[in-house]
Amino acid sequence: MVSLLNLCTTCCAFLFLASTVGSDRVFTEEELAEYDGSDPSKPIYLSIKGAVYDVTKGKDFYGKDAAYNALVGRDSTVSIARMSLEPADLALKHDISVLSSSELEALESVITSTYVPKYPVVGRLDVAAAESADSRRTDL
Ligand code: HEM
Repeated sequence: MVSLLNLCTTCCAFLFLASTVGSDRVFTEEELAEYDGSDPSKPIYLSIKGAVYDVTKGKDFYGKDAAYNALVGRDSTVSIARMSLEPADLALKHDISVLSSSELEALESVITSTYVPKYPVVGRLDVAAAESADSRRTDL
């Protein structure tokens, strides 16, 4: 009886950990940059509003030399909201304060219609650390 309880507790703990380990990972910008599609042995990650999606199954869009490769290995919230690959929009990363209400609506729509149903979330970007690094760069 005791050993059955132990087994059950161990299984539950394992299942709980297995279900959370992916989506609880917190990425720095540097870590996220490792998943930009340049190494075919690694998955491809894209952050939108700080949620990191595994977009590897869309590698025809996002892989090395693919049309939307500029969006991956980073947070591309503003670019996706504006459907833009302009360097100025890419540089704005997760700064939704620059978006108009129609751009915010477009962003929510693409998140719910494309990213949530299609790609698993594997973690989140440490947005506070990214902002603090940005402000240090601006201070230089
Ligand atoms: C003339 C301009 C464009 C056309 C005609 C176009 C067309 C398309 C089409 C047809 C798809 C879907 C392909 C499929 O599901 O097989 C697609 C996907 C996509 N487009 Fe564009 N696109 C254009 C510009 C852009 C721009 C400027 C961006 C910048 C953010 C963008 C971002 C994306 C993304 C991220 C996907 C993939 C979404 C996913 O993961 O499923 N597109 N595009």
